[in-house]
Amino acid sequence: MNRRMKKFIVPSILSADFTKLGEEVKAVQSAGADWIHVDVMDGHFVPNITIGVPVVKSLQSISPPPIDIHLMINNPEGFVETFIDSGGSYVKSLTVQVESCNLIYNTIKLIQSKGVMAGVAINPGTPLSSVTELLPYMDMVTIMTVEPGFAEQKFIPSMISKIKQMRDIIDSSEFSPLIEVDGGIKLENIGEAAEAGADVFVSGSGIFKSGDYKGSIDKMRAILENAAHAATG
Ligand code: DX5
Ligand code: ZN
Repeated sequence: MNRRMKKFIVPSILSADFTKLGEEVKAVQSAGADWIHVDVMDGHFVPNITIGVPVVKSLQSISPPPIDIHLMINNPEGFVETFIDSGGSYVKSLTVQVESCNLIYNTIKLIQSKGVMAGVAINPGTPLSSVTELLPYMDMVTIMTVEPGFAEQKFIPSMISKIKQMRDIIDSSEFSPLIEVDGGIKLENIGEAAEAGADVFVSGSGIFKSGDYKGSIDKMRAILENAAHAATG
């Protein structure tokens, strides 16, 4: 059973309208977003290129919600400090992919030395055993529920049992990293992901393409509260 009760709703700005990014971030902030998620892609680790350091830097001037940076890039260890510095005190967490990070233990320690939560993401085909040795160190594990690279993909249903297995591994340990889910999270599946044991819910198109940011976040929050009650009750 998930010992944590607090759940975090985290819009991914990849699905925002980039012609007015500042307004979009402020809009999800006032609609109740807990953090915002920034997807960084390099065209090598994933077949897409998105945004980088200058965009994160520009967000500082609008006092954004806490920023959750997701690096889908090769050799992320060389960019950790630059990204954290670009977001300043707004950077809440920085997540690297276990598949592309050499010296992952050192990278986690480097992220934490900057006062930021260290996340480790695993792709759908990567086994949980690739992160279990990191349980004592990481602050968050991100279960990718789509192949990384693009927004608006469909949630892979078999990832529910992966989330449950991660929950069981964490709950039977003495450590308590957050479980984040990322990819295809929408109103229709956020409850199931929560019941499986996730704590942090990244949603790009599920919020930004909904046409009603507050409406969708409120509905997600209500579903998460019900899932929490079902777990305790
Ligand atoms: C996928 C990214 C996700 C994505 C989420 O590569 O890491 O964060 O933007 O977008 P949706 O919710 O539309 O799948
Ligand atoms: Zn992401």
